[in-house]
Amino acid sequence: MESESSFLLIREIIFPMPRYFLTTAIDYVNSRPHLGTAYEKITADVIARYKRLSGFETHFLMGNDEHSQNVYRRARELGEEPLAYCDRMAREFREVWARLDISFDDFIRTTEPRHKIAVTTMIERMAAAGDLYEGYYEGPYCVSCEAFKPEKDLIDGLCPIHYSKPEWIREKNHFFRLSKYQDALRAHYAQHPEFVVPEVRRNELLRLLESGLEDISISRAGQHWGIPLPHDPSRVVYVWAVALINYASAVGYGQDPERFAAWWPASLHVVGKDITRFHCIIWPAMLMSAGEALPRQVFGHGWVHFKGQKMSKSLGTVLEPLEAADRFGPDPLRLYLVKEIPYGNDGDFSWERFEERYNVDLANNLGNLVSRLAAMVEKYRDGRARPAAAGPGGLAAKATAAVASYRAAMDGFALEQGAAAAFSIVDAANEFIAEREPWALARDAAQADALDQVLHDVAEAVRLAAVLLLPIMPASAAEILRRVGAAESGGVPRLDRDAVWTSRDRPIIKADPLWPRLETRPAGRA
Ligand code: MSP
Repeated sequence: MESESSFLLIREIIFPMPRYFLTTAIDYVNSRPHLGTAYEKITADVIARYKRLSGFETHFLMGNDEHSQNVYRRARELGEEPLAYCDRMAREFREVWARLDISFDDFIRTTEPRHKIAVTTMIERMAAAGDLYEGYYEGPYCVSCEAFKPEKDLIDGLCPIHYSKPEWIREKNHFFRLSKYQDALRAHYAQHPEFVVPEVRRNELLRLLESGLEDISISRAGQHWGIPLPHDPSRVVYVWAVALINYASAVGYGQDPERFAAWWPASLHVVGKDITRFHCIIWPAMLMSAGEALPRQVFGHGWVHFKGQKMSKSLGTVLEPLEAADRFGPDPLRLYLVKEIPYGNDGDFSWERFEERYNVDLANNLGNLVSRLAAMVEKYRDGRARPAAAGPGGLAAKATAAVASYRAAMDGFALEQGAAAAFSIVDAANEFIAEREPWALARDAAQADALDQVLHDVAEAVRLAAVLLLPIMPASAAEILRRVGAAESGGVPRLDRDAVWTSRDRPIIKADPLWPRLETRPAGRA
């Protein structure tokens, strides 16, 4: 035992764990999180947990975007000091993320001193590169997007994302020479086809790059809720420039060069499809200007709608994620969002569909399998599953193949296929029980070994499915591992150690059903 642990220690010294730094968008705090913003955090959490399970030293960053005009206005509407309001919202956001089992390692707020230092540093470096100049911006500005909107991007004079009429502003601003980086960005896209995923998003951005880039305002006039522009403190830095720099501030940019060198560039930015332009064009150009490396990848996920309708704070069509999580705990919600929406596509949530999937995947399928296994092992083998001399049956090969498909899917961010691969083990185990009929084997003493092997193999298949489900349904998967006697091995689970078929004698614990079946609602109540 001791020699095994010293071997692991030596291995870790010789081959240090590779690092993975992933981030989500930081949220505006003018209202509470909704299911759409929660979708992003849940899917990023699945990736973070998967990377940890795959042996990466992972740093998972989330946070709040507090310097928006809407945030300021909301605080004032409520008669609160903006910073006190942001403090309160930060607590509310963190409570929601904790309830959804989101395992971030750091939570940054754009009003923090560490962020101000990083913003000042980066803007100074961009200025030193000769990339900032003064000019006038005149045109529409959508406060909900916090974006200067060229008239050509409006539909019937309205913002196509928020369906609201943008304000018309005329301001003396400082501009960033975005156009200067057009060729360098094109070259980067050509050399790094993996930079923007999925493909559909990459193509959108390539079209944008081809259409030509214009310089953008990097400051706002007449506002004091923000971070002052270093070389002209009468203005504040444009909120999007402030927001993007959070990814660097959180790992020490401008303050802790060693830490920054250890974690930068980010491995992955997970963001919604509406804000890829900021992350895949403006942000990389800012980094080029400041002389920093570009993030390795940006994943632009789709949008979740509620009962077919766009979910948006400003449209008032929102679903509180806690309402869904409070019904059955966070895991059924996490599973639904990951398994039912191909990652990168838009998806929909309705209570009807959610309850239907809960019954099919969890109550009838996985939950029932765990209960049946425990009941049979208790009844026929006094609560212990033991391998027999004959060795594993066909289930082992199926489960091993599913582990390989799972890894390929998860490595390529096809989270829904990863979930499906884990559930294919559950299906195979259920079919195996139906085929081998343990209750019939139990009636024949000559079949004692066969019965041992069937029960052992089902337990092992359940264990493997639970290991694969750890990133998606962390608490439930851990509970299943406990019930199939796998929690006792202790330590941090790792795919290379734990997602491997083994033959061992283990206790199987019988306990309450994990997901009691729901009675279907009367028609019409979605
Ligand atoms: N503050 C900016 C992001 C700055 S990142 C440097 C912002 N905030 S937001 O609160 O409006 O959105 C936060 C994230 O939630 C974005 O990635 C956005 O795409 C995502 N979503 C907002 N509504 C969504 C859905 N209905 N569905 C899925 N994601 C959604 O943008």
